[in-house]
Formats: sequence, structure tokens, C-alpha cells
Amino acid sequence: MSKIRVENLTKIFGKHPKKILQNVEKGMTREEIFKMTGQTVGISKVNFSVNEGETFVIMGLSGSGKSTLIRCLNLLNKPTAGKIFVDDENIIDYDKKELREFRRNKIAMVFQHFGLFSHKTVIENVEFGLEVKGLSKEERYDISKETLQAVGLKGWENFRISELSGGMKQRVGLARALANDPEIILMDEPFSALDPLIRRDMHSELLDLQSKMKKTIVFITHDVNEAFKLGDRVAVLKDGEIVQIDTPEEIIENPANDYIKNFVRDIDRSRILKAENVMKKAAIKFGKALQPKIAITLLEEADVDYGFIIQRETSKLEGIITIDDLALAVKQKKTIEELMHSDYKAVHKDVYIKEIIEIALDTKYPIAVLNDNEEFIGRIHRGTLLKALI
Ligand SMILES: Nc1ncnc2c1ncn2[C@@H]1O[C@H](COP(=O)(O)OP(=O)(O)OP(=O)(O)O)[C@@H](O)[C@H]1O
Ligand SMILES: [Mg+2]
Repeated sequence: MSKIRVENLTKIFGKHPKKILQNVEKGMTREEIFKMTGQTVGISKVNFSVNEGETFVIMGLSGSGKSTLIRCLNLLNKPTAGKIFVDDENIIDYDKKELREFRRNKIAMVFQHFGLFSHKTVIENVEFGLEVKGLSKEERYDISKETLQAVGLKGWENFRISELSGGMKQRVGLARALANDPEIILMDEPFSALDPLIRRDMHSELLDLQSKMKKTIVFITHDVNEAFKLGDRVAVLKDGEIVQIDTPEEIIENPANDYIKNFVRDIDRSRILKAENVMKKAAIKFGKALQPKIAITLLEEADVDYGFIIQRETSKLEGIITIDDLALAVKQKKTIEELMHSDYKAVHKDVYIKEIIEIALDTKYPIAVLNDNEEFIGRIHRGTLLKALI
């Protein structure tokens, strides 16, 4: 179900946004409008929806309109045109009271430069939203303490913000957003001020937290590696317009245009593509009771050297056999069961290619791909692996 749905959202900065809007409607680009009027189109006719529990990443270069867009989602920016539905309510129609409730209960934001009260303590910062909400002192304290522990800041409650490193400050920012238990978390380049190692820690932490919390997250970044690591889906923004929205795998495999192609050129594909993305579904499968002669015919017709031995009722893989083994079986009057190999390698469909490459070095057979029920769903040849990487 979609939690957030954005329709034709446009934000124009300047004195006469409504007038400029007509030009946007006519299809003029941001650059043309700027040249003609000196006014900036922050975002232009943006459409997307975010599913409940999804991490939706918006990626774009500096100035592409990322902050403008995310700040529309909690109405820190008032859109010039368009609609924003959250749980099917157009939040743009909210009156003051409804908006206050919305910001208090449903949505929270984590900012790039932390946005914390630096003279207050860690726990006071986390308690802030709860205080506004009217919780008692004890409740506030308990929730904040627990949330700080969840983000790895146990024992730091009474330190002042000014005494913390950047990474720790952003953990406080995250704790403050989480303490309110919002349904939606907006994150505007939360990790871009952190150095790479700390950033990597924060990525793992966020993925870990999200696997438990299942919040709806809108995450902004200019870093394609970060986008693909965190995002279930990624929207690419260019000059205020969305160019492509897809899963990281889809974007890599089917970039919408040269701009996107260029964007993802340097990405390490082996960390994005998974077994399922590169496997071949078609494979010659048979039971171990099949006559070797018939198995040879099957392999020959398909022009492959290997067959997979499957347990028919369960679709579980039992072994692998080569065409040479089968020839031997015919000659020596042996059964498939006697000659099949069980030292094949199998991976779950969600395993990254990076790991499969290592496994591939360790086997001479194609690698079997299994689903959640450990059923055989496809195969990967070493050649396929290499091809996927270029
Ligand atoms: N309050 C404002 N008044 C006027 N122009 C603005 C305002 N906020 C943003 N803009 C303009 O809108 C465009 C998009 O800016 P925005 O801050 O959304 O980009 P961004 O993608 O977040 O960039 P960055 O990666 O640098 O944070 C820019 O041209 C910017 O100058
Ligand atoms: Mg920004």
C-alpha cells in the first residue's frame, strides 16, 4: 500500500510563483524559466509514491531539488502546485491544527547538519519532541533512554551535544526522530557530513534498525553508492525533475537514458546485483530415476553440458551431473543416482554477486540458486558472472 503519494508537485521560488507556474505547465525547463524571469523552479511536476515500510531514496546532484522536495513532504516548503497524499489525505489541505498533529505524530525529519540544540544534553535533545507532545517527565526519560540505546549511545545521555563527534551527533538526530515513533522518517543527506568509515557504520545501523522498525523512510543523498545500498527504490532527480524511479538492480540493468548511465557508471555492480538478477531460469532438470540415455538427449537438445537432479515433489536440488558422467553411466550400466555429484554450490537468490564470485572460484559446476524454501530456481555460470560485471 502506498503511504505517500506525490502528484504533479511543483515548487517555485520567487515573487510570482503562480505566474511562473504557467510556464512550467507549458513545458519550459528550469533553465529557460530562470533565463527569462530570474526565478528558480525548485522542483517541477514531480510524481512518485512511497510504499509503507519502504526506504525510498531520492538521489541527485547538488541543486537538483532534493531538499526542496523533501521539505515539501512535511510542508516546511509550501508547494506551488500539486498534491501530497499521506494515507490518502492531501496534507496540503491541512489547517494549522491538523498540520501540527501531523508533524507531531506521523512524520519526523533528520537533517544533514544535525539540527540539534548544542547547549543541551543528549537526552534533552531526544526528549524535546516528547515534551512538545505532552508526555510526563518519567515517560520522556524512559523512551529517550531506550531510543539512545537502540542507536548505540548508551551511557552518553548526559553529555552535551558540543562534546560529541559528528557521527554521534547524527545518532542523536536519528534518536530524536525515532523517539516519537513516527510512521514516516524524512532524512535529508543525514550522513554526508560524516567521514567514510563512520558513514559505513551508520549505513549498517540504519539497515539494521529498519529491518526491525519497518518505517516508511524517504532518504536524500547525492551519493549513488549510498542510494543503492539503502534504497528499496531510488528516484533520480535532475534539474528539478524525476528522470527514473526503479530498484537499484533495475536502474543498473536498464538505465532510462545516458544521464543515468553516466551516473551509475562507476558503481560496483557486484554489490548491487544479486543471484536472482543474473541467474538463468532455464535449466535441464530431471529426477535421479531417469534413464541416463534419455538425460543425454535432453542435455543435447538444450545444448548444455550439465543437468540438475531435482526431487520432483519438493523441487529440492539433489545433485548435478555432467554429460560425460551420463555417457559413463550408459557405458557402465550405472544409474544417475550413482554418478551424480553432491559437491555443487548453491546460493540464496538474494546473495550479492560479490560473494558468489568467491564461491565460483571453489567449484567447477554452475552455481545453483535457491529461493526461501530452498527450492531450485535457477543457475549461474561463471561466464554469466563475469558478463554481469561489465
Ligand atoms: N529558499 C529558497 N529560495 C530561493 N531558491 C531556493 C531556495 N531553496 C532552494 N532554492 C533553489 O532551488 C534549487 C534546488 O535547491 P535544493 O536545495 O533543493 O537542491 P539540493 O538538491 O538539495 O542541493 P544540495 O545537494 O546542494 O543540498 C537551487 O537552484 C536552489 O538555489
Ligand atoms: Mg539539499
